[in-house]
Amino acid sequence: MPQAYPITEHKYDVIVVGAGGAGLRATLGLAAASLKTACVTKVFPTRSHTVAAQGGISASLGNMAEDNWRWHMYDTVKGSDWLGDQDAIEYMCREAVPAIYELEHYGVPFSRTPEGKIYQRPFGGHMRNYGEAPVQRACAAADRTGHAMLHALYQQSLKENAEFFVEYFAIDLIMDRDGECQGVIAWNLDDGTIHRFHAHLVVLATGGYGRTYFSCTSAHTCTGDGNGMIARAGLPLQDHEFVQFHPTGIYGSGCLITEGARGEGGYLTNSEGERFMERYAPTAKDLASRDVVSRSMTVEIREGRGIGQDKDYLFLHLEHLGRDLLHERLPGITESAKIFSGVDAAKEPIPVIPTVHYNMGGIPTNHHGQILRPTEKDADALAPGLMAIGECASASVHGANRLGTNSLLDLVVFGRAASIKAAELIKPGAPLRPLAADSADYAIDRLDRLRNAKGGSKTSEIRAAMQRAMQDNAAVFRSSEILAEGVKKIDDIAGRLPDIQLSDRSMIWNSDLVEALELGNLMACARATMHSAEARHESRGAHAHEDYPERDDENWMKHTLAWFAGDGSISLTYRPVHTWTLTGEVDYMEPKARVY
Ligand code: FUM
Repeated sequence: MPQAYPITEHKYDVIVVGAGGAGLRATLGLAAASLKTACVTKVFPTRSHTVAAQGGISASLGNMAEDNWRWHMYDTVKGSDWLGDQDAIEYMCREAVPAIYELEHYGVPFSRTPEGKIYQRPFGGHMRNYGEAPVQRACAAADRTGHAMLHALYQQSLKENAEFFVEYFAIDLIMDRDGECQGVIAWNLDDGTIHRFHAHLVVLATGGYGRTYFSCTSAHTCTGDGNGMIARAGLPLQDHEFVQFHPTGIYGSGCLITEGARGEGGYLTNSEGERFMERYAPTAKDLASRDVVSRSMTVEIREGRGIGQDKDYLFLHLEHLGRDLLHERLPGITESAKIFSGVDAAKEPIPVIPTVHYNMGGIPTNHHGQILRPTEKDADALAPGLMAIGECASASVHGANRLGTNSLLDLVVFGRAASIKAAELIKPGAPLRPLAADSADYAIDRLDRLRNAKGGSKTSEIRAAMQRAMQDNAAVFRSSEILAEGVKKIDDIAGRLPDIQLSDRSMIWNSDLVEALELGNLMACARATMHSAEARHESRGAHAHEDYPERDDENWMKHTLAWFAGDGSISLTYRPVHTWTLTGEVDYMEPKARVY
């Protein structure tokens, strides 16, 4: 019997979990619509991982040369390798232009052209006229775009009187017996108290799960907390097999060097000094889509043209751009190169390797952010009381591979969309449905069991085993044998969770307990990734399967859904990709060969 945990009660119209770009944009929109809104976040809002986004946010403003939201849509569909839902992609690309002007009015200090317009730089896979040649579409605030956005959105949320519960860890959703969400149970890390947030709607904006891997550009806080809560609530995780490797993580540390560096004219070379991307992507070259560049780099290393003692990295050259340009447009990565690889980017190339960066898959939603609970009869049936936005969600605008700068766009477009839909569905102050007497038990039992766990393995040992298995068995290239071994490994490692050992039993700032809770969430994400990847017998976007090297639209143009049963077993089902558009202003874009 768990010890008694006194509960502090809260009632709101809407609870947002997470305070990155998506969570803040939703919080701001909800509060502005007079909905009583609480944002529950495990880190201070401006420390959320959006702060690390560097190169820009995409929108076809056409400030540097002609551009069009239909070209942006085409690039996104093509980038997704035709796994993206085209209604959602149309929505995002059309809304991109007003979203940028809105951010400008919120105070985001975008870099400027000499005429005072928002500066836009080239990025991978951003092309003019349906793939003809690169276009400058990424709106940038130097190489600190996410940082600038996060601060502006937090200030705007405060202006709208949204309430923040900072350093509160969301443990689990409150689900009623019919599967409707009624709120969330959270732990205040600072004073150790437990809180029940009762609401009409919970919006999950908890970010990605990059930390399932050993080497990634993601913050240590990117632990798939929303995805874990959804898996435990008996709802599916979609397309987790699609994990993006960013071409330019700094060798050794994994720290991000923005694709904007190649957008400004940087290029990659191998040990022979060759600009090898010209062979793999004759038109876009170093600005091909990320999956293409990461695969090309991996081939170069595998074939012995890597650099260094172990021939396991490549060079990114920025020296020719000159110190002034680096200072004006790329100051952050110039500093990172110095700190994390001891390189003066104005004089020497930076050693880089493809590094885990983004999760295309996540919690399935429609383009309003409403979470799906697909049934045999209705692939788009809704899970009542729940929304998900940002990297934890799969709308699905990124499909099998995301284009750089579409992530920041996704955050603000779908954060706003979720707040608009919530304002349609909920009347401010409407009475809440009563909670069952045991509504907090599931979350508290789980917390209590972990807190008192006296097994034989430290959290850090199990986490390291998981991260190693993901790094070895779900990498840039996969094969049937490696994935089958990966499924066995990850299931065995997950089987060690009940054997966890915690040394600290305190409820106040117990980082041991936080890490154990996070590990449970990460493990659900890791297992969904490995199982879904093992089952997908084709190559598409970031899923490069050596035994099935071609895309197979006939059999595999469908979303994977990974469902967790109470006994921990995983079953996979599939739902069709949306092959329709929203407005009739643009037609469905038929699949074709993906060349850059
Ligand atoms: O390379 C970058 O600046 C990353 C951008 C993104 O992931 O969207």
